[in-house]
Amino acid sequence: MWCVSLQRRPLHTSWGLMKKLTGKSPAEQRWLQRQLKDPYVKASHAQHFRCRSAFKLLEIDDKFRLLQPGCSVVDCGAAPGAWSQVAVQRVNSGGTDPALPHGTVVGIDLLNIPLLDGAHFLSSHDVTDPVTHAKLLELLPGGRAHVILSDMAPNASGFREMDHEKLVTMCLSLIDMAERVLQPGGSLVCKYWDGILAHKLQEKLSSVFGKVQTLKPNASRKESAERYFLARMYRKAAE
Ligand SMILES: C[S@@+](CC[C@H](N)C(=O)[O-])C[C@H]1O[C@@H](n2cnc3c(N)ncnc32)[C@H](O)[C@@H]1O
Repeated sequence: MWCVSLQRRPLHTSWGLMKKLTGKSPAEQRWLQRQLKDPYVKASHAQHFRCRSAFKLLEIDDKFRLLQPGCSVVDCGAAPGAWSQVAVQRVNSGGTDPALPHGTVVGIDLLNIPLLDGAHFLSSHDVTDPVTHAKLLELLPGGRAHVILSDMAPNASGFREMDHEKLVTMCLSLIDMAERVLQPGGSLVCKYWDGILAHKLQEKLSSVFGKVQTLKPNASRKESAERYFLARMYRKAAE
């Protein structure tokens, strides 16, 4: 994933960049140059976020106030952990403010997620696996989450339609997770890549959430097909 690579490649000076560019393919050179210019990359270094994606969640949460102190949050596709950093701060799961209720953050990823105070991580776990759901039930207070976040993405194949369909399938699996752990009235934020199945996904979400809307945060690159659904007011599907 790009943001994981970013962590391993801090870019501080143009001399440093020149050295990094040497021996790189044209695509890698373009990527490095874009990183150097990106204000969100700079801000993520300055604010010690693991990845620029933190700013997408900050923007969503500043507007919709989903992550309140004391809330329980599941972060799907959490590596390297920038969204979890935001969630830990906002729900006070690290207990930074003793006057406020302490929340819970559980992050899940196929990859290793470096440790973070205030978060429980299920590294090397698949969000779609029932074993993961069983572990989640144990980690969440009362087995319930107020919010499910998903910035999950499959490894891009380069075939836009195929990648779109794969990510939609992953998003649909979050509805199964919601059925097991999301409390009534809870919210889900999930990333998708825009395409022909987006409206199907929206319909599915609308069948179990009272309100579903599409978001494109400023921190999401304009040229990217990336979008987020914000689904609120969860109600269980009729049995
Ligand atoms: C864009 S990154 C997430 C970045 C993260 N939100 C952050 O702020 O640090 C997408 C992640 O989704 C994970 N992922 C993809 N499929 C998954 C699955 N089935 N279960 C768990 N994680 C998955 C990938 O391993 C990758 O780390």
